[in-house]
Amino acid sequence: MVKEPNKTAPVVTHSPEETIALGRELAKGLRPPCLVLLKGELGSGKTTLAKGIVAGLGAAREEEVTSPSFTLVHEYGGERKVFHVDLYRIESSRELATLGLEELWSAEAIVIVEWGEKLWDNSVAPRVIIQLEYISSEERRITVERSGS
Ligand SMILES: Nc1ncnc2c1ncn2[C@@H]1O[C@H](COP(=O)(O)OP(=O)(O)OP(=O)(O)O)[C@@H](O)[C@H]1O
Ligand SMILES: [Mg+2]
Repeated sequence: MVKEPNKTAPVVTHSPEETIALGRELAKGLRPPCLVLLKGELGSGKTTLAKGIVAGLGAAREEEVTSPSFTLVHEYGGERKVFHVDLYRIESSRELATLGLEELWSAEAIVIVEWGEKLWDNSVAPRVIIQLEYISSEERRITVERSGS
C-alpha cells in the first residue's frame, strides 16, 4: 500500500496525559506562521491536545490552557503568539467572517483551531491537520497530516 505523503501513522493514546505529551512532541515541529486544525467529535480530546501544544510551544502552562468554547479565541504567549480558537458555535461562513480570524493568520503566529472542519477557507498554508477519534473512554486515535511548506 502506498503511504499518503505527509501523513504520519496514527497514534493511539491511553490517557489525557499521553495526549498532552503528544501535543508537546508535535509542538517541536511547529514554526509560525502555522495553522493547526483539530478535527474530531465532542470529547475526542481537542482541548487536551491543545494544552500540550501550547505548553510545548512555551506560550502558557498546561493548566492555563482551557477550552475557548465560550470566548471563541484565547491568546497565549508573549513575543511568540499562540491563538487557540474554538469554532463549535459557528454555524455559517458569515458568522465565521465576523471573528476576524484573518488577522490572526497574518500575524507571525501559531493558530490552533478546534472544530477545524468548519474552516471553509482553504487558502491558508502551511497547515497541520489533526484528526482525533474516540476509541474508548481512555483511548483516542490521533492522526497528523501536514500540508503546505
Ligand atoms: N487518551 C485521551 N486523550 C484525551 N482525552 C482523554 C483521553 N482519555 C480520556 N480523555 C478525557 O476525554 C475528555 C476530552 O475532553 P476535551 O475537552 O479535550 O475534548 P474536546 O475534543 O476538546 O471536546 P469539545 O468538542 O467539547 O471541545 C477529557 O475529559 C479527558 O480527560
Ligand atoms: Mg474542546
